[in-house]
Amino acid sequence: MAKKMLQSWQGTLAVIGVDWGDSGKGRLTDDLGARADIIARFNGGANTGHTVENQYGKFALHIIPSGIFNQKAKCLVGRNVAVDLESLVLEMSALTKAGVSYKNLLIDEQASLVMPWHKMRDGLREKLRSAKIGTTGRGVGPAYADRTERVGLLVKDLLKPDFAGKIEEEVKIQNKFYDLNLNAKEIVRRYQKYQTKVKNFIGKTTLIIREAQKAKKNILFEGAQGYFLDIDAGTYPYVTSSNPGVVGIARSFDIHTSEINEVIGITKAYTTRVGEGPMPTKITGEVGRKIVDVGREVGTTTGRERAVGWLDSVLIKEAARANKLTALAVTKLDVLTNISKLKLCISYELNGKSMDYIGHDAEFLSKVRPVYKEVGGWAEDISSLRSFADLPKNAQNYIRVIEKITKVPVKFISVGPKRGEIIYL
Ligand code: GDP
Ligand code: IMO
Ligand code: MG
Repeated sequence: MAKKMLQSWQGTLAVIGVDWGDSGKGRLTDDLGARADIIARFNGGANTGHTVENQYGKFALHIIPSGIFNQKAKCLVGRNVAVDLESLVLEMSALTKAGVSYKNLLIDEQASLVMPWHKMRDGLREKLRSAKIGTTGRGVGPAYADRTERVGLLVKDLLKPDFAGKIEEEVKIQNKFYDLNLNAKEIVRRYQKYQTKVKNFIGKTTLIIREAQKAKKNILFEGAQGYFLDIDAGTYPYVTSSNPGVVGIARSFDIHTSEINEVIGITKAYTTRVGEGPMPTKITGEVGRKIVDVGREVGTTTGRERAVGWLDSVLIKEAARANKLTALAVTKLDVLTNISKLKLCISYELNGKSMDYIGHDAEFLSKVRPVYKEVGGWAEDISSLRSFADLPKNAQNYIRVIEKITKVPVKFISVGPKRGEIIYL
C-alpha cells in the first residue's frame, strides 16, 4: 500500500491533521472520497469547518463528512462526534440548494448532542476566565464534558417518545447549576423541528464499518482539527476536547489502529493556528501579512484571522511517530509563491539544548526557540501545474526537504482550493 499512488488508494485510509487544524482536510477528503465506499467522521463537532470547492459549489461543512459529494458512498458520523443539530440542518439545506443528495448520511445513535446550554456555558466560561482558550464557542467542550460525566443527551434520545421531557428536566438542572435562564418550551419546539429533519438518518455506524471491513470495501476516515489540538497530546489547555489523531478513530468505530492501512498526515506548506496557545514558528511582519492575505487565513467557522508560521517539522515528526503516518499531504503550496526565502523549523532549542516536542505541554512550547533551515523560494505561478516534475526546482526542493526531515513521503500536494487542483506523487 505504502508505495501506491494516492489516487488509486484501496483499503482503509485515514486523513488526520498534523498541526492546529485547517490544513485542508475537507478538500483532501473530497479529492480522495471519489474512491471511497464509506467516508466516516470520527471526532469534533461544529468547531470544525471543512471547506470543499467542487462542481457543486463552495461549502463549509461542520458535521456532515466532506465525502458527501460522492453519492455512492455511505457517509457516517461516528459516536464520538459532538452532534450540533442546528449546524447539521443548515448544512443539509445548503446541500439541497446545490442539488446534492445526503440520503447516504448516517449519524451514530450513541453520539452526544450539543445543546443550547453547552454553547452558553462555552461562551460564559471564556468570558469569565482570565487566560482564554479562544474556543470556537460552539459548545463542544461542555458537550464532551457532559458525555464524560454521563449526563448528556444522545442522538438516539431524539427518537424516544419522552424527548421533550428529557429536555425539560435537563433545562431545570442547567438553569440551577449554571445560573442560566433557558426556556425549555422554546428549546423543545426547536428540537422537534430538528428531529423531523434528522430522524431518518440515525443508526448504528460501528456495524456498517464492521461489515465494510469484512467485504474489503474502501473506507476513508476524515479527522477534524489537528494532532496538536488533541485533548491529551496537544498543548493543554489550548486544545480541543477530542482526539484528532488515529486514537479518535478507535473511539468512534471500535477498530484497532493497526487495521488502518494508510494514515495521511495533512499540513499546509506553512503553519497556522487560530485561538490562543503557543506557536514557536510564528511569522510577524510583511511576510506574515502576505501569507494571511494570499492564503485567505480566516477561520472557516468563526471568521477569526489565523496566526501564520513557518512549517514546523518538529511537530510533524511527532505526529508521524505517534500516528504512524504513511504519507504526507501538503496543501496550499501556491500560497508560498513569491517569497524569496523560506524557512523550515528543524528542531527546537531550550537552555542551549536541542529538543523534540514534549506532548501535552503548552508552557514548554511557549519557551522553545525554533532552529531553522533556510531554502530558496520561487516566483512562478504553480497553480495550474499537475505534475511534480513541472514544479520550479526550489518548490521541488522544499517538498524534498520536508520528506527528508520528517522521513515521511509526500504523496499529495495541492496548489489551489478546488477539487483536482493537486499534484500526486
Ligand atoms: P480543514 O478544516 O482542514 O478542512 O481546512 P479549512 O477548510 O478550514 O481551511 C483550508 C482553507 O484553504 C480553505 O479555505 C480552502 O478552500 C483553502 N485551500 C485548501 N487547499 C488549498 C490550496 O491548495 N491552495 C489554496 N490557495 N487554498 C487552499
Ligand atoms: P478543523 O476541523 C482550527 C481550536 C479553537 C481553539 C481550540 C478550542 O476545521 O481543522 P473548541 O471550540 O474546540 O473548544 O476550541 O481549538 N479549534 C480549531 N482550530 N480548526 C479547527 O477545526 C478547530 N477546532 C477547534 O480555535 O483554539
Ligand atoms: Mg477548518
